[in-house]
Amino acid sequence: MKRTILLDVDTGVDDSIAILFALRLPQLEVKAITTVSGNVHVDEVTENTKVVLGLIEHKGIRLGKGASASLRRTRFHAPEVHGDEGLGNVRGKYIRYRTRIQTERAVPLLIDIIKKSKTPVSIVATGPLTNIARAIKKDNRTMQRVKEIISMGGSFGHRGNTGPLAEFNYYVDPDAVNVVAQAGIPLTIVPLNVTETVPLSRKDVIAWSRKANSGVSRFIADVTEFYMDFHSRVEGFRGGFMHDPLTIAIAAVPSIVKKRYKKPILIETQGLYTSGTTLTRDAIGNEKNAPVVSVIAEIDHRRFWNLFRKALFATDKH
Ligand code: RIB
Ligand code: CA
Repeated sequence: MKRTILLDVDTGVDDSIAILFALRLPQLEVKAITTVSGNVHVDEVTENTKVVLGLIEHKGIRLGKGASASLRRTRFHAPEVHGDEGLGNVRGKYIRYRTRIQTERAVPLLIDIIKKSKTPVSIVATGPLTNIARAIKKDNRTMQRVKEIISMGGSFGHRGNTGPLAEFNYYVDPDAVNVVAQAGIPLTIVPLNVTETVPLSRKDVIAWSRKANSGVSRFIADVTEFYMDFHSRVEGFRGGFMHDPLTIAIAAVPSIVKKRYKKPILIETQGLYTSGTTLTRDAIGNEKNAPVVSVIAEIDHRRFWNLFRKALFATDKH
């Protein structure tokens, strides 16, 4: 039985790979993709998503354009990581694939699908949670039908990647994290401390891409070059973390999770230097309104990379 998902993205480099991965995995049925400002502005995110969709069969998928700024209407992007346009500065090379899919508005699209779906729908969010929070504010009754929200974000007992403690998605819109966590919809967080254990090396992506020699594998080699240059300079290794593809894999094959815990969490929304920081409540004592969420703590790396290579670098795919 396929898992029906709605994918909310801030297409950026690792989101673009996550989209291709989700569309290739037989365990998932992607009903819609919605875009949100994050890595780059939502205009660019939407253009990038159209290019990625054009690379691969995407029949029956609806596209919705979402929030251009956080709930507090601030904007924060990461062009130094994902390139000015958000696709590692290679969108121009792939623009001919841009699909002409009709673009709806994200929040009404999310609510429409969730309201009409006869099977349970899950949301996989690989960017800031602004669209999901707005959908909850607009129609919480319908959003309570969501089976699970799986969100890449946060960092627990680990460094941040946006300032010393915060992870990017949750830094961009900490208020949206609060709205989603407090909504009572089952929330599973895939945090930085886990996604930073799946670095894709430049050596592997070149070797796998050459061996597969497909349009998708060539795109992945191209789109990750800028992203990997950033990691070389800043992280000291020539590769790039597969934050969003891991989140997709967890949604598709939950059994790759080796350890998870359910705890009350807190998200800092006010701190001058700590905004976006996520804590489990036991870190600071018994805060009353800390919502209980599921946090992924450990995954089966061998199974993740096998899924990843089979779906995106198989030698029998066009
Ligand atoms: O912190 C990593 C996350 O922020 C990833 O989802 C990346 O694409 C950016 O959105
Ligand atoms: Ca992302």
